[in-house]
Amino acid sequence: MNIKQYTKEKLTKIKENKIWYYFIRFIFIPFFNFVWVNVINFEGRLLAIFYQFKKKNFYKINKHEDVKLIENDPDFQEIATKIKRAIDERLINQIKNDLFSKKFDDPSKNQYNDYRKDFFPLLPDDVKDEVVKFALSEKNLLTATKYLKVFPVIKKIIVNLNIPRSDKEKGAQLWHKDDFGYKSLDIFLAVSDIDINNGPLYFLKAKNPLGVFFKIKKVVKNALPGERNKVTLDIFSNYYNESEIGALIGKSGTSVYVDSFTKYHRGGFCKSKDRIMLRISYQTPDSSRGNESYDPEKFSYYPKILKKDVKNIFHKYAMFKTRNKFFKFIKIDNIILFLIKIFHYKM
Ligand SMILES: [Fe+2]
Repeated sequence: MNIKQYTKEKLTKIKENKIWYYFIRFIFIPFFNFVWVNVINFEGRLLAIFYQFKKKNFYKINKHEDVKLIENDPDFQEIATKIKRAIDERLINQIKNDLFSKKFDDPSKNQYNDYRKDFFPLLPDDVKDEVVKFALSEKNLLTATKYLKVFPVIKKIIVNLNIPRSDKEKGAQLWHKDDFGYKSLDIFLAVSDIDINNGPLYFLKAKNPLGVFFKIKKVVKNALPGERNKVTLDIFSNYYNESEIGALIGKSGTSVYVDSFTKYHRGGFCKSKDRIMLRISYQTPDSSRGNESYDPEKFSYYPKILKKDVKNIFHKYAMFKTRNKFFKFIKIDNIILFLIKIFHYKM
């Protein structure tokens, strides 16, 4: 055994130790969290304080939760209906054709993405306007702000069509966390009705107190991009039983707020029917989902919106804020991901 292997094995042993668990939970995380909120996200912290002033319209996610199921919210049902109305058979066929002709010849990219496609860019402008308005609504921004403790940036607006494509779960249909940073809040909103046959999002109900610093040991072996750090359904069932797992199942408009960085989840495996889902991801400038290469004067998910036209400082931050020069220089996203890699507890 060489030195590298030896150190790796020793480190793995330490990371499975209960003392390590308590160190991470009661010493490391409180310290890390303080720095993340007050230093790394200093600007977002200030904005959060101002934004919360006198505003009351939000969903409360308790301190010991990182998920919340929303049923029968008229605003959510309305946005689902608006998207649904813009979709016809011609559009669906166009998306399916794109999917069937997609090639997976770049080995550095997700090799398992043949079952879903984002078609938000193909929606008519008036619907895109409504979706962006929804993403910037007080209810969503305030819910994300209260959960994150800092004002968020929008790092994803997608409307996915998922189709039945294989007889077994693969890629993001396996259990995983989105490894892009420390904390986030996503809203997954059912546009089509969802039942067990068209790929519900499944998630662990309880929050793990270690958040991103908790990982399941047995991940897919020799995985290609798209399946790295993912856990098969079989293995996962050795850790958690059926009653500990929640699902986004329900009528159009049913939604779930979930922190996809801290929480194990899987979804989108359609057995027999298609599924359409809106997803908006509220993150922070330090997460590794960047749009650095994109024209900074345009909102990357909807380039019709120009930075110079947005007067509201909160909306401007949510759509256009990127890392400052210092954090760009030190590559803060890589540092955080590295710390997670070093300091997590494995079970
Ligand atoms: Fe995910």
